[in-house]
Amino acid sequence: MKTAFDGKKVVLGVTGSIACYKAVDLCSKLVQAGAQVDVILTDAATKFITPLTFRSITHRPVVTDIFDAESELSVEHVALAERADVVVVAPATAHTIAKLALGLADDAITTTILATAAPVVVAPAMDAHMYDNPATLENIETLKRRGITVAGPAKGRLASGLWGWGRMVEPSDLLGHIAAALGRRGDLADKIIVISAGGTQEAIDPVRVITNRSSGKMGYAIAEAARDRGAHAVLVTAPTSLPDPPLVEVHHVESALEMRDAVAACCENADALIMAAAVADYRSANPAGQKMKKGKGDTLTISLIKNPDILAETQGTKVKVGFAAETEDLLANARQKLINKNVHLFVANDVTAPGAGFGVDTNKVTIIDRDGGVEDLPIMTKYEVAHRILDRVAKLLKS
Ligand code: C5P
Repeated sequence: MKTAFDGKKVVLGVTGSIACYKAVDLCSKLVQAGAQVDVILTDAATKFITPLTFRSITHRPVVTDIFDAESELSVEHVALAERADVVVVAPATAHTIAKLALGLADDAITTTILATAAPVVVAPAMDAHMYDNPATLENIETLKRRGITVAGPAKGRLASGLWGWGRMVEPSDLLGHIAAALGRRGDLADKIIVISAGGTQEAIDPVRVITNRSSGKMGYAIAEAARDRGAHAVLVTAPTSLPDPPLVEVHHVESALEMRDAVAACCENADALIMAAAVADYRSANPAGQKMKKGKGDTLTISLIKNPDILAETQGTKVKVGFAAETEDLLANARQKLINKNVHLFVANDVTAPGAGFGVDTNKVTIIDRDGGVEDLPIMTKYEVAHRILDRVAKLLKS
């Protein structure tokens, strides 16, 4: 699976809000990710944006009128509803949300949603007072109760000049909600998967740390992929520059000791632990309470003490997966760790190979298992690698 949207049929309903411009970006991102997108505009939406904008991005007809003789919908008014893998309304006005809560079907978007069996994602966008109105809040609760994903709204500056709740969530976040909705009945549904990510930071003094080059991208990709197969993904992450993935439970930690405590707590009810974090093997034995001053001599010795091995000591999950970032003797080292740390799978990568390892969006890994099996994967995106690892985890959880 290249992306969560590859070959998926997305119906994107756009209603009359100034946030329509974000729907254009969302539509473009979905098409770039491989989705086939059918756009429906309400009358009010056409006052903000033209059908041509979406037609130019999707290269498909845009539905504006349920009674339009040219439209596919006029032939069979539930055609899009039946074809859709997911129906998204972004932006969704208070008015459209109210119609959905009542089950009305007086335009192409509400008709499609009433008739679809596909998951529905709604991204509210409105002025803060309209959002705060009990009618809107109750309508949103009604949609949630019926299993509709309500993404946002976010808090911030609104078009009216007000500051408050009502901003449509950003398209990049909305992609996460849509991917999760698409995969909610996936093979990891009802499973809790704990993933660690990033390079731990071990304090030397209040301003300096010992850390490593891990970007966190591999662990974040696994958390997103697990979410996109229906799992409850729990991400325990050392500091990274990456945003929290939507609909993933994220715990931020800094040091190996903090990561150990967080992983232990999160694993209490978890099905699997995937340790993609680059955990520092050692920490400063005596971190200074104040910033250390430059000394007179040319050298400085910091005494280090070994960190606990989180992967080896964590018990209780049915499946444990480790990562071996190596620069030499890849397989021999990974095999040894598989035994030492009592794990089911080890994902080994040569971090010096082109397109693999730290910072890049691709990886080239070998998965080794307890039975001596060696699966050599070609270079692929970290999201694809994540799915290949989760294929194995899903199989182990079933066995
Ligand atoms: O022994 P090595 O550090 O190469 O093992 C790598 C694997 O062990 C990774 O999955 C890493 O997250 C995990 N690890 C750990 N605790 C440590 C060191 C590594 O869980 N202290």
